[in-house]
Amino acid sequence: MIIDGKATATAIKAEIAEEVARIVASGGKRPHLAAILVGHDGGSETYVKNKVIACEQCGFTSTLIRYEADVTEEELLRKVDELNRNDDIDGFIVQLPLPRHISEQRVIEAIDYRKDVDGFHPINVGRMSIGLPCYISATPNGILELLRRYHIETSGKKCVILGRSNIVGKPMATLMMQKRQPGDATVTVCHSHSTNLKEECRQADIIIAAIGTPHFVTADMVKPGAVVIDVGTTRVPDSTRKSGYRLCGDVDFDNVAPLCSAITPVPGGVGPMTICSLMKNTLSAGKKEFYQ
Ligand code: GUN
Repeated sequence: MIIDGKATATAIKAEIAEEVARIVASGGKRPHLAAILVGHDGGSETYVKNKVIACEQCGFTSTLIRYEADVTEEELLRKVDELNRNDDIDGFIVQLPLPRHISEQRVIEAIDYRKDVDGFHPINVGRMSIGLPCYISATPNGILELLRRYHIETSGKKCVILGRSNIVGKPMATLMMQKRQPGDATVTVCHSHSTNLKEECRQADIIIAAIGTPHFVTADMVKPGAVVIDVGTTRVPDSTRKSGYRLCGDVDFDNVAPLCSAITPVPGGVGPMTICSLMKNTLSAGKKEFYQ
């Protein structure tokens, strides 16, 4: 089975739009997301553009704030503070990566955790890890949503996560072992220093690949019947494309897919779900679902 992230994301955005219409019709406030984009990184430009489009599809108000790459950390922090205090803004994000002269951690920690719809603030990360209501970061939450909507059993399963980043691997591990569904899995995290990575993968019922190396997961690493979730989105030069590149997953899809009970393609798998998760968090922010 191919897990269709694009169709799932479209369905969820329609559900959100319906709820927003109901909220607005009954006199409630239309959710408002702001995004700060620094510089002109190609990937970031695309992501932020798609976030603005998704806001429109969901019936949200959106505000895009742009800075050149030479903006000072001080100026950026001033804007974060202003957004923290602006009652009309329900949630906001600062698109990463930031230029090297700016501390991403300082910026993340300056965001009011009650408006941190990216779920990157240590308060949200900490609350997630102990199972309290909070904003969960977009990629892990998108993957959970796919597992939920495709009725993939995770309880008691051996889940191997490839990658230990703060935005995917680590939170994914935390969520897959949480005492609820999806979750209740036996989780192993493999990374660049793991010595038995292939063997671990071969024993996995669920593999979540988030290492950023194209076609890293090959057929000999996958147990027949396994579920494979591919988080990779490496841009590979491709002169036959208008954009000049194509997206390449961490999984050798053509050879792995025939073995799997379920697999996400790239593109069209996890990718579309991430923005969708951000939209869900923004709706929660508008409803003051987690925090007053
Ligand atoms: N850069 C890559 N992924 C993300 C994300 O989820 N949020 C933000 N703000 N920046 C990113």
